[in-house]
Amino acid sequence: MPRTLAAVTLTALAATFAIPAPATAAGMELWRECRVCHMVAAPDGTVLERGGRSAPNLYGIAGRRAGADANFRRYSDVMQQAGRDGLVWSRENFVDYLRDTNDFMQRLTGDYDSRGHMNASLSEGADALFDYLRDLSR
Ligand code: HEC
Repeated sequence: MPRTLAAVTLTALAATFAIPAPATAAGMELWRECRVCHMVAAPDGTVLERGGRSAPNLYGIAGRRAGADANFRRYSDVMQQAGRDGLVWSRENFVDYLRDTNDFMQRLTGDYDSRGHMNASLSEGADALFDYLRDLSR
């Protein structure tokens, strides 16, 4: 193999197997908690993280309006309303939502009967997960 080609190949390998920064590694690890229901797929169909289809695609979730995956038809009324009211996923409200989704929705709407459709929570590491998803969607 010519020397330059070998060098290019090695560089590509190093990039492929690069050890992720700690925040990324933590986010990647935590993604396991989400993949049963969520996937991450770019608009051109490239799947960045495999996962289920019973929940919205989380591509570009950082800075995305709530309830905005046009291919997901089963948003709760409260999530759709939150989006219409201008809720945008920042790191702060993402972490807050994941801590307790119903509590988040109830505080947001002031309606203590509000229930979203996400039956999962994450008490630690949601900030790293947010960064991971943000970087994945760049
Ligand atoms: C048991 C299935 C399930 C799991 C596990 C799950 N989710 Fe969800 N998630 C949902 C559903 C269903 C919705 C839609 C909620 C609604 O409409 O009220 C949702 C909505 C969301 C939203 C809002 C999406 C939007 O388009 O506005 C975010 C953000 C989110 N989930 C993040 C996560 C993260 C991060 C994890 C992993 C820690 C996770 N979810 C785990 C089912 C799940």
